[in-house]
Amino acid sequence: MALRLVAAFLLLCLATAAPAQQVVSWKTGREAQGIERRIDALLRQMTLKEKVGQLHLSGRGEGFDINQVRSGEMGAVMNFVVPAEVLAVQKAVRESRLKIPLIIGLDAVHGFSTYFPFPLGQASSWNPELIEQAAYWSGREAAAAGINWTFAPMVDITRDPRWGRTLEGAGEDAYLGATVAAARTRGYQRGGVATTVKHFVGYGAVEAGRDYNTAWIPTSQLFDVHLPPFKASLEAGSMTAMAAFNALNGVPATAHRGMLTDLLRGKWGFRGFVTSDFGSVTELRLHGIARDDAEAARKALLAGIDMDMMGDAYHKHLADEVRAGRVPMKALDEAVRRVLRVKFHLGLFDRPDVDPAAAPKLMQTEGAREVALQAAREGAILLKNADDILPIRDSVKSVAVIGAMAVPEDERVWTDPAGLGRRVITPLPDALRERLSQDVRVTFEPAFTKNCGTEFADKQAAIRAAAESDLIVAMLGEDCAFLGEAASRTKLGLPGVQQELLEALVATGKPVVLVLATGRPLVLTWASEHVAAILQTFHGGTEGRAAIADILTGRYNPSGRVPMSFPRSVGQIPIYYGQLPTGRPERPRERYSSIYMDELNEPLYPFGYGLSYSRFTYADARVSAASMPLDGAVEVSVEVTNAGPRDGQEVVQLYIRQPVASLSRPLRQLKGFTKVMLKAGERKTVRFRLEAARLGAHDDEGRYVVDPGEIEIYLGGSSRAAVKAQVRLEKS
Ligand code: NOJ
Repeated sequence: MALRLVAAFLLLCLATAAPAQQVVSWKTGREAQGIERRIDALLRQMTLKEKVGQLHLSGRGEGFDINQVRSGEMGAVMNFVVPAEVLAVQKAVRESRLKIPLIIGLDAVHGFSTYFPFPLGQASSWNPELIEQAAYWSGREAAAAGINWTFAPMVDITRDPRWGRTLEGAGEDAYLGATVAAARTRGYQRGGVATTVKHFVGYGAVEAGRDYNTAWIPTSQLFDVHLPPFKASLEAGSMTAMAAFNALNGVPATAHRGMLTDLLRGKWGFRGFVTSDFGSVTELRLHGIARDDAEAARKALLAGIDMDMMGDAYHKHLADEVRAGRVPMKALDEAVRRVLRVKFHLGLFDRPDVDPAAAPKLMQTEGAREVALQAAREGAILLKNADDILPIRDSVKSVAVIGAMAVPEDERVWTDPAGLGRRVITPLPDALRERLSQDVRVTFEPAFTKNCGTEFADKQAAIRAAAESDLIVAMLGEDCAFLGEAASRTKLGLPGVQQELLEALVATGKPVVLVLATGRPLVLTWASEHVAAILQTFHGGTEGRAAIADILTGRYNPSGRVPMSFPRSVGQIPIYYGQLPTGRPERPRERYSSIYMDELNEPLYPFGYGLSYSRFTYADARVSAASMPLDGAVEVSVEVTNAGPRDGQEVVQLYIRQPVASLSRPLRQLKGFTKVMLKAGERKTVRFRLEAARLGAHDDEGRYVVDPGEIEIYLGGSSRAAVKAQVRLEKS
């Protein structure tokens, strides 16, 4: 017996034995000074070729030349995911003259081996602690495989769901975006990988939502809307940043000295390095600002791009540019210094090589999967629940699960890095069977092929199964080519045959619960009028379907909230809650007001909205003082009651408006939120601190102005929050 216990204990130790985990953070004081001295010493020893090498980022796959690592001509690699292969490149470093460790990057965007919901789905949880944990586990798993740099978080604000990369961000709002950006940065770096805040800047505003297109952003909006998440990530310690593909106000972001050098380094004091995006240095030719790669390399470096990702322009031309005196050695040294600085602060010179035998043990651990499950639960948004059809009632004796999205065999994870560890993803029908009582029959019909739902599989079988059930759970959405980079759309309906399928299911007369897994808010206007319930997920990841089953059966009370307005029709885009007032506010049936002839102004589901199986009420908004000076702060409180039948979480949101100021100010702006758990019948006082300094806006010169005047405060469970208070900002 004792022996067996010892054996069990040893097994447990083996199972949990993990490579020493390294928290990544900027060193300060003496340590930081010591690092600068080590960099000086290294720079003195480096040849021109070795210096340029530090700025050359190449990736696994065709054309990768490991000899460049040996000859000191490559400072960074990407897309290596198999620990044994990572080890091989690390070993090649040991054969180089100076043995400067590689920075090893990967798009571990929403996980490595354990997948968490897409970042937009994580943002839908409005739970920064949980989001931080998801990033922590993503970083920790990646670090265990030898990766030390992730190309995340993407913090681009977008108000255009046509853009395929919507799924990678936190939605439309600067405050939510900044909060999520900071949480994700902290999490990844705590897990042991340096973050890359991206894409600097304006990528989320590409015109017409078409990927790689141009962005035109007025200075005031740039500072008030697009830059805050970058600043938040850098303040949380992000060690690197990535320039965007797009041109911003006519200047390609990869050559934007104003942004990369004057703002990022100058004004914000960023000490880390900036990488280009994939091939974006050489793309400066196509943007029409460089005749050849040599000029592209020169312009990018002088603008502030330290590392050339997958472009070869630095590798091939930078040394000549320096020799010809077109790029000062000082500028090159400065870029190399930034790369080396990150490598030192990351601890790469002291990190042991990856241990391929140990790595798999850190994949999909219980801790990671628990967070994945909770993130998937909290990120799911209940958009509609007519007659409280959910959670599934006891009277339901048969459920037909329809739609290939319910079975995740070939779950499209568009950055599929790992191939490590178990990847068990429970299909929805099985997850439902496990949770419903045994006398409930659960059937499943895929109805369409998963290939974006372009074709029916067996439509008739699906309709038959649906017609014979008490309740239809239709799991539909976007997969494959409809997700991620280069996946912009002009039509935001259900792809392929899925709308036709949904209409046929509704026509059976049986109640339909629509469960969505998409990469963006779709136009759900028809569905919202015809189905009984809608549960929106942004691909929940490894535990996504378990989480959906938990919600459908009432094991978990939904608490996700919309991070990005759902349009009623594509023509409303860009659509967002924080619009400026117009001189002709919307007036029903008044032609000469700011309205459409054929559509409402309002989104279908507004920012911040989401249902629960409970009901929350708000009362007694109070402000600690009637006025505050421009450098002061007040406490705002509100009483929140769970007036519904179940325990549940509410996202308490605080919005402000300054009705009269020197510049037109948004109709509403989120300035605070907190997720609280309330037992059925429980009442809590929720408090926020509101600092006057956060209530200003930038003008078109980029100056930040806090104006005296009235501030309206709104508290509630969405951007339509109705409980009101106010405070006056006064000149000190
Ligand atoms: C291009 C994407 O824009 C960027 O976000 C990503 O990190 C790189 N490819 C590397 O895969």
